[in-house]
Amino acid sequence: MEVGGDAAADAVSLDDVAAKTWERWPTGIGELDRVLGGGLVPGAAVVLGGAPGLGKSTLVLQALGGLAAAGRRCLLVTAEEPATAVAARARRLGIPTAGLLVQETGDLTAILEAFGRHRPHVLVVDSIQTVRDPQVGGTTGSPAQVRAVAEVCVTAARRAQAAVCFVGHVTKDGGLAGPRTLEHLVDTVLGFEGDRHHALRFLRAAKHRHGPTRELGVLEMGPRGLVGVEDPSRCFLAGDRHRSTPGSVVAAVLEGSRPVLVEVQALSVPVRGGPPKRWAQGFDAARLTLLGAVLEARAGVRLNDGELFANLAGGVDVDEPGLDLAVCLAVASARLGVPVPPGLVVAGEVGLAGEVRHVARCSDRLAEAARLGFTGALVPAAGPGGPLPGEVGALRVTPVASLVEALAVARLGPGAPGPERTRC
Ligand code: TYD
Ligand code: MG
Repeated sequence: MEVGGDAAADAVSLDDVAAKTWERWPTGIGELDRVLGGGLVPGAAVVLGGAPGLGKSTLVLQALGGLAAAGRRCLLVTAEEPATAVAARARRLGIPTAGLLVQETGDLTAILEAFGRHRPHVLVVDSIQTVRDPQVGGTTGSPAQVRAVAEVCVTAARRAQAAVCFVGHVTKDGGLAGPRTLEHLVDTVLGFEGDRHHALRFLRAAKHRHGPTRELGVLEMGPRGLVGVEDPSRCFLAGDRHRSTPGSVVAAVLEGSRPVLVEVQALSVPVRGGPPKRWAQGFDAARLTLLGAVLEARAGVRLNDGELFANLAGGVDVDEPGLDLAVCLAVASARLGVPVPPGLVVAGEVGLAGEVRHVARCSDRLAEAARLGFTGALVPAAGPGGPLPGEVGALRVTPVASLVEALAVARLGPGAPGPERTRC
């Protein structure tokens, strides 16, 4: 939110300043509202960026339907698709459209006129790259145009205490005049991710002035549009938890406020010349290299003659240290060709000394694993409020202090079959 431009404002005691809580306008799409921290904020600007074809237009249309149903006046500027296509989509998806205005234009002047005339609570511009400010040079969609259009709309919305949302395309390499250009002009940057050929979509805030940025929204694209996935763990678990395959280990991680179970899959193949390759999808590849080094140096798992590939099932991205232990066990399991015991779930950060470090909210992770029918858990022994050996429902909890200990409990220790061991 903008800081007041009153040059004469004097300093005041912080005691005398009322704490601000933002009004929220929920969209009614639970996963979107979670990422927004409760809903759109009047006077604030949001950009929703994502690759073409992911479902951005569908998401904003559904959100506008929810906002209109809650009594907000909404204006959807459609600069890419004809209004008839938007209407067809709304009818097909059964989106309530009373109170939802649509304007088919790519001209900023026309948008401002309609905005002034109808005074909507919520303005959506789909997309920012296809709207043109006639007072600014450059081609439509150029950085100068995108910046000018955004600036004008943000100022108008702020003055009217309306919420504005820009849809923006980003290319695979994140280039073009997309959300990057807009980042500094708006309050919230949402990224819409996923694979166009699969149904799952992920929503995250890269910047959020009115709430946390760590929340993950999970939605599924289907014949009824985008539907929130309330139980994402079930989507991220690829295999049958009563059987296990070498290289596959389930991790209990935190995604914002939610514990989520994800499956790490690793593959090890003999090196084909050159330095051994390390490839990871769904988490940082540098982390895979580092954890591989720890496995070699601290637990004697020989990896330098093999290439390593690892990914997370379901296409989700995880950036949480609690994933480390699962990556280590998955790599060791793949290298040794030995599966971990079925029904096992793990959580823990792994340090360079081979120690298993504390993770936040361990009991919530264990509760999620117990809910989903897992029977054994490896968690860090140390840390404040660290778990004690025992049971959470049918889940047997084993605290471990080191990678060596974790490998032994997961039956990947020195007694495990396979020749790939060195002395450490
Ligand atoms: P769209 O919202 O147009 O994506 P974007 O604005 O990000 O380019 O939707 C993209 C695709 O989603 C569309 O080509 C087909 C698919 N889709 C569904 O599978 N189900 C639906 O109900 C809708 C509306 C779209
Ligand atoms: Mg679109």
